[in-house]
Amino acid sequence: MAHIDNHSNELTPTNFAIGLEDQYGAHNYHPMPVVLKRGQGVFVWDVENKPYFDFLSAYSAVNQGHCHPKIIQALIAQAQTLTLTSRAFYNDQLGICEKFLCEYFGYDKVLMMNSGAEGGETALKLTRKWAYKVKGIPQDQAKTVYAVGNFWGRTLAAISASTDPSSYADYGPLLPGYIIVPYNDLDALAEVLKDPHVAGFMVEPIQGEAGVVVPEEGYLKKAYELCQQHNVLFIADEVQTGIGRTGKRLACDYEDFQPDILILGKALSGGTYPVSAVLCRDEIMLTIKPGEHGSTYGGNPLACAVTMAALSVVKEEKLAENAFAMGQLFRENMLALAEKRPDLIKTVRGKGLLNAIEINDTEESETAWNLCMAFKEKGLLAKPTHGNKIRFAPPLIITESQMQEACAIIEKVVLDWQLVN
Ligand SMILES: Cc1ncc(COP(=O)(O)O)c(C=O)c1O
Repeated sequence: MAHIDNHSNELTPTNFAIGLEDQYGAHNYHPMPVVLKRGQGVFVWDVENKPYFDFLSAYSAVNQGHCHPKIIQALIAQAQTLTLTSRAFYNDQLGICEKFLCEYFGYDKVLMMNSGAEGGETALKLTRKWAYKVKGIPQDQAKTVYAVGNFWGRTLAAISASTDPSSYADYGPLLPGYIIVPYNDLDALAEVLKDPHVAGFMVEPIQGEAGVVVPEEGYLKKAYELCQQHNVLFIADEVQTGIGRTGKRLACDYEDFQPDILILGKALSGGTYPVSAVLCRDEIMLTIKPGEHGSTYGGNPLACAVTMAALSVVKEEKLAENAFAMGQLFRENMLALAEKRPDLIKTVRGKGLLNAIEINDTEESETAWNLCMAFKEKGLLAKPTHGNKIRFAPPLIITESQMQEACAIIEKVVLDWQLVN
């Protein structure tokens, strides 16, 4: 019999599923105690058939809503036709999808991978190749710059950039050639860019995992201009912020510039399948020659079919525009709530439908977790990030009445909250 979790001795479907994961799975996550079995649109259902608003959207992978019919249809049709060929051969979907992606985002070329972390790795490898082949940095001397609080996945290259000990501790030795500067600090960036061995600056337009940290207006564009002045590549990690999430096609679109390298993932497939992509101009992409980078599943026909469907949905259903409007509504509601409970809510921040509230308590406190548990009881799923911040990121298809209903849940929990909790 499966292990029964501490919350109850009763062997419910919830406890059964949690017990199995606990007994047979690695303990590399700390999920909320809810077991989901179905999703549709902005809702998910647990194994006891209770519905919830999904205000995490699988860390912004499900921007188009759960099981979007058009994406699922594309997935099924392609799955019944051809799923994987490897890149040893051409397939009839990849070229079409590459053209689609280049035109959608305005780049010369794209390289498709699977996870977001692989997208980041690909961007880093391209930057290093470009450093040696184009910029002329001496072999093995290239450096890349990252910001404090960055998160781009769990591979060794990604955690080598991390400033969070829970990501990198006991995984050393880490990769050399990394420089870390404070986020949202142009002077610090300008200083390190003076080093002629710097090849690239990789940055999230809004730091998602760090707790939805929004930089000052103009920071990104000015950072891009500084990079240009020093012949350094500006690499935008839009794995979480891209594809409509922040109320524009890309978060960089707010500042009206084109990153040298763009990394996308998550919502590229609308939550059906791991797809990531790196886009850049020929001068950068063509530094990688046949046999020098790749992945068995990267650019497979199934991934291509769902990617084209997922991006078409974003455009056809005007999801970026909806995210912009619904985000404003959400923050208006939350700011009004923060005025009523300043003892509990310290700040409200975000763009489009990537938002967070910061709880007026220490990072070590359990308040944010306990609030999320209370939201869950009332039918809304959200998860704390970095202790005292709660991220709210529903699917971008959310309607105004759904948003009002969801805000009412959050308001009720917050207004009823006793600080002794
Ligand atoms: C900004 C950013 N980049 C990269 C990643 C890594 O993506 P994946 O988990 O698909 O490897 C994440 C994941 O949360 C992310 O938020």
